[in-house]
Amino acid sequence: MTHVRVLDTPEALAAALADTFVRYANEAVDARGHFDVALSGGTTPKAAYALLAQAPRRSQIPWNAVRVFFGDERCVPPADADSNYRMASQAFLDAAGVAPENVHRMRGEDDPRQAALDYADLLVTLLGESPRFDLVLLGMGPDGHTASLFPGLDPRTDQEQLVRAVWVQKMQTHRLTLTPAVINAARHVVIAAEGAAKAAMLQTVLTQAPDFIAHPVQCIAPAGGTLEWLVDRAAYAAIE
Ligand code: 6PG
Repeated sequence: MTHVRVLDTPEALAAALADTFVRYANEAVDARGHFDVALSGGTTPKAAYALLAQAPRRSQIPWNAVRVFFGDERCVPPADADSNYRMASQAFLDAAGVAPENVHRMRGEDDPRQAALDYADLLVTLLGESPRFDLVLLGMGPDGHTASLFPGLDPRTDQEQLVRAVWVQKMQTHRLTLTPAVINAARHVVIAAEGAAKAAMLQTVLTQAPDFIAHPVQCIAPAGGTLEWLVDRAAYAAIE
């Protein structure tokens, strides 16, 4: 089931994304005693992340039962300005007091292939043979990528893998990413898209026939879970 919520402003989008995190965190902890979430990188989620570390939401989340993972990572050290782990730590993980042992970053400083294998092993160790996140947060690039599944490479290759090291030609760099198999196993997937720069691609991915190689975000379809798009009016403008 795909649902699209259009929020009037970026601030409303951030609040909706933060409230969604709160809701699914409590749902998971009530049902299973912990909340396993894979965070998105990029800039869109930053405002939502900051809200999670502030009143009132900070006290609405059972942080000691939250286990933090990442949907993708740049192949840089954790202190690098490009690190998604660094962004999330600074945006809310440190302020919310998430125990370091409950924050599981992808080791961007290691050999990419080895880092992918190691993270896959970690997922199996902590989440079981068929890892199922309670929530996967994603963004979408103007080119239709999500996580680090970029156009030009069939995102469904290596479906038996949980984590992949991918070479991103246009960035001339490796990235680490969860595969669609893991993302689509999640109970809930939320994709946030904000701003006019995403409008053309959002119209394409929501209204045109799937082309997973050209628009990898179209392969996000949780088989036994929910998919919700949270977008602001500027990103939705080409559809309205
Ligand atoms: C990353 C993200 C990536 C991001 C999109 C959108 O590592 O950058 O995981 O997939 O979600 O590129 O980025 P913005 O939110 O900055 O537009």
